[in-house]
Amino acid sequence: MMTKLAILLFVFLKSALCVNILHIAQVASPSHHIWNRALAFGLAEKGYNITMVSHDKEKEKHKNFHLILLEGIYDHTYEGFSMESLTETTVLEGIKILYDWSLLCCKHDFATKGLQTLLNYPKDFKFDLIIFDVTVEQCLYPLIERFHNPPVIGVTPFLLPPVLSHAWGNPLQTAYWPYFSTKFTTKMSFTERILNFIYTHAEVLYRRYIALPAEMQLAQEFFGKDIRPLEEVERNISLLLSNSDPILIFPVNVPPNIIPVGGLQIKPPKPLPEDLKDIVDKAKDGIILFTLGSNLRSDEFSPEKRKVILNTFAKLPQTVLWKFETDNLEGLPKNVVIRKWLPQSDILGHPKTRLFINHGGGLGTQETMYHGVPVVGFPFFVDHVGNLARLEHRKMGKSIDFTKLTVENFYGAITEVLNNPIYTENIKKASKKFRDQPQTPLERGVFWVEHVLRHGGGEHLVLAARDMSFYQTMNLDILIVVVLLVILVYSVILLVFTVLRFLLGISSRR
Ligand SMILES: *[C@@H]1O[C@H](CO)[C@@H](O)[C@H](O)[C@H]1NC(C)=O
Ligand SMILES: *[C@@H]1O[C@H](CO)[C@@H](O)[C@H](O)[C@H]1NC(C)=O
Repeated sequence: MMTKLAILLFVFLKSALCVNILHIAQVASPSHHIWNRALAFGLAEKGYNITMVSHDKEKEKHKNFHLILLEGIYDHTYEGFSMESLTETTVLEGIKILYDWSLLCCKHDFATKGLQTLLNYPKDFKFDLIIFDVTVEQCLYPLIERFHNPPVIGVTPFLLPPVLSHAWGNPLQTAYWPYFSTKFTTKMSFTERILNFIYTHAEVLYRRYIALPAEMQLAQEFFGKDIRPLEEVERNISLLLSNSDPILIFPVNVPPNIIPVGGLQIKPPKPLPEDLKDIVDKAKDGIILFTLGSNLRSDEFSPEKRKVILNTFAKLPQTVLWKFETDNLEGLPKNVVIRKWLPQSDILGHPKTRLFINHGGGLGTQETMYHGVPVVGFPFFVDHVGNLARLEHRKMGKSIDFTKLTVENFYGAITEVLNNPIYTENIKKASKKFRDQPQTPLERGVFWVEHVLRHGGGEHLVLAARDMSFYQTMNLDILIVVVLLVILVYSVILLVFTVLRFLLGISSRR
């Protein structure tokens, strides 16, 4: 019995050890890396041999984790972006900016040494599975064919964009699925539904008819003319792991092949490093954490904005921990501590933390909900607006327009959220509900990766809707036939009556 078990265990371990997974996490954003690496390390921990392609370096070492760095993209990421101008883009401009950025990243990546390293793998090198961050940069899809078309799983840390949900076969639900860069909630007015319909379809059409053809052209220049059309490659990716969750975002109906693993990156809090622990212990009135996450820099604020922020903080009794990316900040009040880096999730998990001031980034919003800390935020672009609007709508925080930031409205929002207990109560309730699920999102993600490995794909989970056109899934063709039939029957009856009346009229006159 024991030997049998030992043999089984050996076979199992050995099989896991030999499984090679290529994790293409090419989206140039540190927050995408944070999310993807959480999944990758979860798999490495189980014995899978992970080869990850990313723009971000990785400090943590693991014997099953190998990183191929796509070097250099952050050297030109911040050019031409000013924080104040970002807040002024419209929803439709946002769509164009997103896909233009994707195209720039494609061009950059094709010229990296990192990509060459991957392409130089032996021709017959076998990856048993590919995990692909499908949020943008579809131009890298031909890598799947380069590695002999193993099963592929799509992932997106960008919550669940309607355009991807749709591409994985889910009919669009614009009536109650608010577009991510609007302030709409799941209950929309008629006007909001019209706009939401336009925005959502605009992205779907833009991606299909403008963005993807442009990426296809670039991909052909790099990989060769005879690559398969990108949408066809995408159709063969059966499963999508999405960073979405009914509590953290809002309930939507997803088909069996879209697996919500929202908050997969979140870990239980670790003790703070010594110097921070001292500061936090001494803070009688609690802690306020202020960071703009990993994509934006608060040292790029204009001097006026900086002054507004410092003057506001000076009026507060709490200690403010501010992630500020440069060493010096003049006129720092006594209660404000700056650090170039802060362990965001661990600070949010500390019982003394009372408020999170941020920009409404996707991961930060999930983390603060997980830890039950209310928010005051100013959104900068794309999804920030929606994330903060949802917190505000559910009374878990407040959103301020950054361009209109003053000491009065900033201080007002902070004290309102700190002093009115409803905000903390609401977000703590959400935190409890989110944690009340049968397994952690990471366990769920790892399970579905193994499911696809065991069965060689996930096509058995795909809705038939994925291969139907929109008028079929919406039954528009049937509605038209029904309406025409009703009109026809009505006209026939009308005609018969008219003829009868005419004939009877003639006969009665006789
Ligand atoms: C594990 O992945 C690395 C990096 O791709 C590769 O060099 C190595 O051969 C893989 N190990 C096995 C046992 O296949
Ligand atoms: C793509 O999917 C279709 C239908 O499931 C299958 O017949 C085809 O072999 C797949 N192609 C590749 C390259 O995996």
